[in-house]
Amino acid sequence: MGTVISETVTRTQVGIVGAGPAGLTLSLLLARAGIESVVLESRSREYIERRVRAGLLEQNTVDLLRSLGVAERLDREGLLHNGIYLRHEGQTLHIPIFELTGRQVTIYGQQEVVKDLVAERLAQGGTLDFEVSDLAVHDLDADLARITYSSGGVRHTLECDFIAGCDGFHGVCRASAGALIEHEYVYPFSWLGILAEAPPSTDELIYAWHEHGFALYSMRSSKVSRLYLQVPNDEPLDDWPDERIWAELQTRLASAGWSVTEGPIFEKGVTPMRSYVCEPLRHGRLFLAGDAAHIVPPTGAKGLNLAVNDVRLLAAALASWYRSGSIDDLDGYSETALRRIWRAQDFSNYMTQLLHRLAGDTFGGKLQLARLGYLARSSAAATSLAENYVGLPATEEF
Ligand code: FAD
Ligand code: DHB
Repeated sequence: MGTVISETVTRTQVGIVGAGPAGLTLSLLLARAGIESVVLESRSREYIERRVRAGLLEQNTVDLLRSLGVAERLDREGLLHNGIYLRHEGQTLHIPIFELTGRQVTIYGQQEVVKDLVAERLAQGGTLDFEVSDLAVHDLDADLARITYSSGGVRHTLECDFIAGCDGFHGVCRASAGALIEHEYVYPFSWLGILAEAPPSTDELIYAWHEHGFALYSMRSSKVSRLYLQVPNDEPLDDWPDERIWAELQTRLASAGWSVTEGPIFEKGVTPMRSYVCEPLRHGRLFLAGDAAHIVPPTGAKGLNLAVNDVRLLAAALASWYRSGSIDDLDGYSETALRRIWRAQDFSNYMTQLLHRLAGDTFGGKLQLARLGYLARSSAAATSLAENYVGLPATEEF
């Protein structure tokens, strides 16, 4: 008896690859506009709801999540922040973001955003398939594009008007988008990030410049702290037992009469740092959004916010096409999205270069201290940092 291979062919308007913040948000924006989509994710629901990543939401992102009706828990549990501290050589500079911009940021873990988006997608009866494998995109220049994949032992073909490649930096869509122009910068350091059961001993986030390297004090709740340390690339986690992590955090974040509250560490990971953009963000019927198209270094927390901004623009362009048959907004998507992507690239690179130890570069170190001094004395400099940090208004494309 030969092997029976079952196959199905289905049809949707927009096939979305990846159920990260970009893909899930896009599916809800499209549903609101009456556009049908199918979301395909290679991981399990449990996995994506536990994956620890970013935590800082711009006001734009919060506003968009509210408009989609998925911010009830965020409004209850999110921590509103009005400013940040920049610390160096024992001095602490407060950047009063709300005072300078009239806008705020919210701390709410990315996996919580993902949980809320998944719950809403499923509550609306939208298709969201987990644990799909062998996914490939085809016929991007034909009248109908196709996504092929396996799920539950069955081989599927999904025919779509358009495909949204929201499958992150290691996904398959970018590689299928033909000859893209790529811009990349890899930093000579990484971040070691921890989550600890420890009440934060700071009211605002602290970004610290230190001779040993950068440190960041963030949080997730009144009981959980999120902290980061600059470490060399390819640093083995085994070299960082908990005692060494706390000792280094105490040193780099030190301020007279104050200390970091310590507690049990329950999550540890190392993230390399990279700036990457490809262009254009389109190949025929395939559109790239989020980390599939660009990566920023995490300093300043733009990655998730940029992903959400991309799909805001993409959803509007798709809605315009379905409503009026006009291709103009879809044709303009790449250029419009890239303007904000490059603004965020510049800001993330600026924050990274301002605060990380540049090994052997004493000239660069002096420039860093001059810039920190300028931020302390000039409200123009502080406002520039603040308006980029909090997120430039979503209606203005820079
Ligand atoms: P992702 O969240 O990566 O989602 C892509 C989805 O596609 C994933 O669920 C993936 O499983 C799925 N997928 C991949 N390949 C396939 C396939 N072949 N078929 C189907 N599905 C597929 N940003 C910050 O601002 N601050 C931070 O502190 C921070 N920390 C980070 C730490 C790590 C380890 C990483 C990787 C990123 C971090 N980021 C951070 C960046 C931020 O998390 C991303 O910018 C954000 O997740 C982008 O969302 P996305 O939806 O575009 O991509
Ligand atoms: C967080 C991460 C960042 O990269 C940042 O700049 C601020 C906060 C966080 O995970 O909380």
